[in-house]
Amino acid sequence: MSIIRDVLIWDSERQNAEAGDIVINDSGLVSEILPPKSAKGERLFDGGGYTAAIPGLVNSHTHVSMTLLRGLAEELPLMRWLQTKIFPVENRLLPQHIRSGGELALLEMISGGVTCFADMYYFMREVAAATVGAGMRAALCRGITGDDSKKLNENLALADEFNGRDGRIIVQLGPHAPYTVPRDAIEKIASIARDKKLGVHFHWLETEGELETFRDEYKISPSDYLEGTGLLAVPKLLLAHCVWHPVDELDRVKRDNVTLVHNPKSNLKLGSGYAPIKQMLEKGVNVALGTDGAASNNRLDVWDEMRTAALMHKGYHKDPTLLSARQVLKMATVAGASGMGFERVGLIKKGWHADLALVNIAGPAYVGADVTNLPEFLVYAGSSRDVRATIVGGKILYKDGRYLTMDRDEIISKTTEHRKQIVKT
Ligand code: NI
Repeated sequence: MSIIRDVLIWDSERQNAEAGDIVINDSGLVSEILPPKSAKGERLFDGGGYTAAIPGLVNSHTHVSMTLLRGLAEELPLMRWLQTKIFPVENRLLPQHIRSGGELALLEMISGGVTCFADMYYFMREVAAATVGAGMRAALCRGITGDDSKKLNENLALADEFNGRDGRIIVQLGPHAPYTVPRDAIEKIASIARDKKLGVHFHWLETEGELETFRDEYKISPSDYLEGTGLLAVPKLLLAHCVWHPVDELDRVKRDNVTLVHNPKSNLKLGSGYAPIKQMLEKGVNVALGTDGAASNNRLDVWDEMRTAALMHKGYHKDPTLLSARQVLKMATVAGASGMGFERVGLIKKGWHADLALVNIAGPAYVGADVTNLPEFLVYAGSSRDVRATIVGGKILYKDGRYLTMDRDEIISKTTEHRKQIVKT
């Protein structure tokens, strides 16, 4: 038993926050929530009455190793950005670059209270090993482009080696996007996903041009494509971006196994548009939140993503009631974790995994925060800099500026060297 003492607890099932002690059992699960300063046991963390405890944040769409490409290409439209700037450098990346770039991303995310992420890239054994070493949770896939059985086999080998590891790694299949993978290959991947009970992570209608291609070339509606390829029937489907998913086809993706991932800052920065999140939430579609990679954001900061999401749709629709702080916190916690297939992750309750972000609410921006308004303070006034500790499965990964599972200085010096290598060659 270990205790997180005297914190203000909030998750998306609660109306008001609750002062209390969180008791964690030896399996890393929350076993009890007791009145503040009453629990007995080893003290993992003392909140001192000025710390909020929220579920660990979940980044539901990213490419962690792209931290090495951050700042490499700016202010270009998606297809030119990819084809002239990003793909040529990616062709030069080696496994050690993927590892170090991934570790750099984990440093950034862990210090911001992120405990779980969904990632698509290549040399994914490196990302899996970095994740296991850091003690985070992740849903990982090998990004597949073309009709490429070598890439698909790498993805399946990743599943054989890592799926279910420590209860913290889920391996999904990762067809990149409809415009990079032919339809018959998508059908094959979806069929394997169903047979092997694996989820699928897919880029979906990020730009308007992709929607036009469905209309003009494929001559099929996007939802008929999702259904016809078998993607809608895989155990878990993560659809990243969905900026141009037709509003009149949202009923088709309102399914328990389908999650749409909103990436507001990447969509804004690449000029892709405003995803119809208002209509998705009205329809009851499961919506999660992601940063996308650091080359198109350029932060891996879920706090920043929450705030941007909460603000941009209010302005776009001229309606301040849209996307409440509570809704975006749900998107950034339990909606993402369940969308990836993690069970009992994303709430602070008995029997659920003790994945937590502990937030200092003693600073100037939190004067006035109380049990009734904590989520609004966190989303509109808070920031990732307020995170005091990040905990996964009852184990502290980060506390008061120190990393307990990673060597920050070594990772930064290694990635500094690697960055020079990849831009020079
Ligand atoms: Ni992406």
